[in-house]
Amino acid sequence: MENKNYKRTLVTCALPYANGPVHIGHLAGVYVPADIYVRYLRMKGEDVLYICGSDEHGVPIAIKAQKEGCSPQDIVDRYHNIIKKSFSGLGINFDIYSRTSSKTHEENASKFFRKLYDEGKFIEKTSEQYYDEETKTFLADRYITGTCPRCGAEGAYGDQCEKCGATLSPDELINPKSALSGGELVKKETRHWYLPLDRYEGWLSKWILEGHKEWRPNVYGQCKSWIDGGLQPRAVSRDQKWGVPVPVEGAEGKVLYVWFDAPIGYISNTQELLPHTWEQWWKSEDTKLVHFIGKDNIVFHCIVFPSMLQAHGGYILPDNVPANEFLNLEGDKISTSKGWAVWLNEYLEQFPGQEDVLRYVLTANAPETKDNDFSWKDFQARNNSELVAIFGNFVNRAVVLTHKYFDGKVPAYGKSEPIDQEVLAQLPELKAAMEHYLDNYKFREALKEAMNIARLGNKYLADTEPWKVAKTDMERTASILNLSLQICASCAIAFEPFLPFSCEKLRNILNVGINAGQDHRAGEADSIAVNMYHEGEGAALHTGLSTEALILSWNRLGASDLLPEGHQLNKAQLLFSVIEDEVVDAQIARLEKIRAEREAAAKAAEAKVVTPQKEECSFEDFEKMDIRTATVLEAERVPKTDKLLKLTIDTGIDKRVIVSGIAEYYTPEEMVGKQICILANLAPRKIRGIESKGMILMARQHDGKMRFITPQETLVNGAEIG
Ligand code: MF3
Ligand code: ZN
Repeated sequence: MENKNYKRTLVTCALPYANGPVHIGHLAGVYVPADIYVRYLRMKGEDVLYICGSDEHGVPIAIKAQKEGCSPQDIVDRYHNIIKKSFSGLGINFDIYSRTSSKTHEENASKFFRKLYDEGKFIEKTSEQYYDEETKTFLADRYITGTCPRCGAEGAYGDQCEKCGATLSPDELINPKSALSGGELVKKETRHWYLPLDRYEGWLSKWILEGHKEWRPNVYGQCKSWIDGGLQPRAVSRDQKWGVPVPVEGAEGKVLYVWFDAPIGYISNTQELLPHTWEQWWKSEDTKLVHFIGKDNIVFHCIVFPSMLQAHGGYILPDNVPANEFLNLEGDKISTSKGWAVWLNEYLEQFPGQEDVLRYVLTANAPETKDNDFSWKDFQARNNSELVAIFGNFVNRAVVLTHKYFDGKVPAYGKSEPIDQEVLAQLPELKAAMEHYLDNYKFREALKEAMNIARLGNKYLADTEPWKVAKTDMERTASILNLSLQICASCAIAFEPFLPFSCEKLRNILNVGINAGQDHRAGEADSIAVNMYHEGEGAALHTGLSTEALILSWNRLGASDLLPEGHQLNKAQLLFSVIEDEVVDAQIARLEKIRAEREAAAKAAEAKVVTPQKEECSFEDFEKMDIRTATVLEAERVPKTDKLLKLTIDTGIDKRVIVSGIAEYYTPEEMVGKQICILANLAPRKIRGIESKGMILMARQHDGKMRFITPQETLVNGAEIG
């Protein structure tokens, strides 16, 4: 299957669940690499279709709706729009971003299921499953909780214990309960359809293990271990309300399992966009199908969905499935529910004009071969010392000097020097390296090579010093700047797949357009190829380009005549700006706060064990203590301490001062007027130079928080307690 001559490429991106915004983990794993690939192919003039959409079914969405007291449709409407908007904010413009709650999809997924059903491709099985009588629902493993049989922790889930990490089945849980209602569970028989994956084992092994040895080691390895481990039939239906109803008589209350319907969504969305020509994308051997996904999706895209397609017949299979590993955030696993994430919609609001910085950092750090970490310090460093200091600086110097010495017109290239030849010789090599990496889904490496082009330009300027040469030799200065500007134009081509916003700026500066290929966003009506300067209509106008404008294209990368002599440049403009410490520090502080809260909560959970009882004391011991009611008259902080309040109290016996470590829990204002209980006869002590006579009785909770003890109703001061 390698080196096939395809006529077109169909790129799909995992359909994100519409139950939360997209975060940097999703972007680094799936969407940024896919976008780079699509932009690259389009610049090379290839025909590409770019498909995505929201995955709107599944139990978590139904549960979230239940918790929030709204309908699942409300939930998916909310997040579908947030996600869709945020993708385009980052320059990720799918040909279609539709949704699995659409009519087209429901019909299509039903038809798909029905064909397999009619042809006997499923098996039917009855099994006992946990049923929550209170909410009248069968529960997915995740929604059953109980005591872990391995470590004894409470609150283990039916699929996993988060405390000890054990993989569990609901049957193993001790005292299982519904996580939805907290109620008891009963076992009930239920009938479902299964795709017998075991029947596809031989076929899968031949197709992947023999036929796709070129797939990434992480992907190939996972496939191999699934296939070698022996495949089991997989249920393709569920007892749920939210989803595509099972299109079979007597299947009321059953829907297609979300992982059955979602990948069919790729096909549905293609049909929605191209109702007459979609088959050419899905049913022609001339189409190269590539699925961009994260590693948790490998089994579904390499084993389950291909088996579904094979069972159905007539569809092509993926040529490659470049799945990424996971991205962590500041050393910890990203988790939406724990708030440990950087969300795209928030980033776009907080960093306007810096879309490319995120694209850059996520690519430079892409988890292509192993899990990787995103940190704000690294984000800042890569912006400041790579984007600003290398790429931005190079372009700026070349353009500013051209304006200074040559009125912003590309100067003539005169006599060639050896250093020029060396630089020019490197450009085609860099282009070839980039192509090699991009063709093989190695986007980090490809980006490094693009940056090497800017580095080469920067070094060329540093070595040739045109600002010095200009004092004696304008002809040589002209040559140096000509060559530098040619390298700038090459950068505008090379970086386009990675940094589309900055490259548009750069093209404006260089006063050129680009052939960014054809997109299918308008559907069939407009599928006549148009050269786009950038994002379709409009862009050509505001660059002020005439019809004979200069158009860059991928195959010209590295050429020494991209910009002709005399070509007028526009004003210099900074491509990137320095990111200051306080900007990233604020982001770090937000995360630190979450981390601290999480740690406190974990501690509190641990401290749930009540402190053991102290050793016995006699009645006489107790009698010695003189405990009384008293009222706080005045309260003030003890200077230079965080913890101490100086309280003046009326004990009924006298007015006295008690210094108490209460300031962590109460402000002075909160204390004044309150009735409290005190140990009146505690031997006086000097605290911070203040004589303290007695002690306030406080209760310490498991989380360490303290509250003072107050009588149920106001009593006289000096009442004896005992
Ligand atoms: N929603 C799934 C996830 O985020 C991905 C679905 S991909 C599809 O993990 F192929 F099923 F659409
Ligand atoms: Zn456990």
